[in-house]
Amino acid sequence: MTIGICAEYRWNQLERRVALVPDSVRRLVERGFRVVVESGAGSLASFSDEQYSAAGATIVPNASSVVETADVLCALTFPHGIASMLRSGQVLVALVQRWKNGDAIVQLLGRGVSVLALENIPRTSRAQAMDVLSSMATVAGYRAAIVAAERLPRFFPMLVSAAGTIPPAECVVIGAGVAGLQAIATARRLGAQVSAYDVRPAAQEQIASLGARPIAIEIGTSDTETAGGYAKQLAEEQLRRQREGLAPHISRADVVITTAAVPGSRAPVLLTRPMLEAMKPGSVVVDLAAESGGNTELTRPGEDVVLPNGVTIMAPLLLPAQLPQHASVMFSRNLTALLQLFAKDDGIGFHTDDEILAAMVLGDATTVGD
Ligand code: NAI
Repeated sequence: MTIGICAEYRWNQLERRVALVPDSVRRLVERGFRVVVESGAGSLASFSDEQYSAAGATIVPNASSVVETADVLCALTFPHGIASMLRSGQVLVALVQRWKNGDAIVQLLGRGVSVLALENIPRTSRAQAMDVLSSMATVAGYRAAIVAAERLPRFFPMLVSAAGTIPPAECVVIGAGVAGLQAIATARRLGAQVSAYDVRPAAQEQIASLGARPIAIEIGTSDTETAGGYAKQLAEEQLRRQREGLAPHISRADVVITTAAVPGSRAPVLLTRPMLEAMKPGSVVVDLAAESGGNTELTRPGEDVVLPNGVTIMAPLLLPAQLPQHASVMFSRNLTALLQLFAKDDGIGFHTDDEILAAMVLGDATTVGD
């Protein structure tokens, strides 16, 4: 079975990552896979063609040569640049974002291409090593704190100097899931005073364990979590109470990082225009939930909005691509763990009887070359 890897930055200007790094290529080649890599695919993530060759990959000059030879094309996001070249019997493995790329996926399925959605990897302990969404959320949470520190016109840490004492920045993180917890940890390491809020009561302990202050808000119900551990969508009255409870914390903050998300729903709007207008001049909001509608009323996906009071609302997209080397390493390790599921004692193939692969398949499964 041949795995194909393309230079995704050639069709997506925000992209800098690569789906497989040389270390993973070596591991896959040892397991009996062939790997074909487009020349330059890893260059923006600091991986050279020579490193891929040394790991056992075949380097080809362009994406169409990858598609010609690959049985399984692995990509970070939906491969708009080459999707039209994929043909019957081939398999695409990617974070396909069905809600955004539904038509293109249906076209692929119609042509007999099998599509495996990485976002459908079940959150079970067996699949933990393959969980690319958690890996990328970890990178995004880290970058959110760094991006905020870069934009903030003041220090994050407390400084004692001959020019006097400077107090630390006040940072509020909303949503303490994977991205939020990493944002808390990073803002703390940078020296900020961090407080954080999540609607799931269980998150309070995790917030405290990272040295941040949990914010408690009485919203009139404790029924906020599904059996699977995800947040439930709240009624408007509960959201109103949340905003009311958050308002004094937001008005004191220098930095607010929002990551609140409910699977399958629009992101809750927790920061209204009046709350943003009441913030201190120079303060910065980084909204990670922009792609699912945003946690603030004024979020514009991919843009920075600067209010007349000097508050900046940032909504960066594809944040993991801003840390291309380690984001690629993490994605690649998860992907390699997943691809091992294709290798069985009787050879390498597309085994949809595996529960993890079965959960990822969109449309019909197809057997591909061995
Ligand atoms: P997650 O599901 O692990 O965490 C979301 C958290 O929000 C949960 O802890 C949940 O309890 C909390 N939450 C939900 N409703 C809430 C409410 N009303 N009030 C307070 N908390 C609430 O999700 P993860 O992986 O941490 O991702 C967070 C967000 O970041 C998602 O929207 C995701 O799409 C986005 N993201 C953005 C990236 C970018 O480049 N912009 C990259 C990766 C993730």
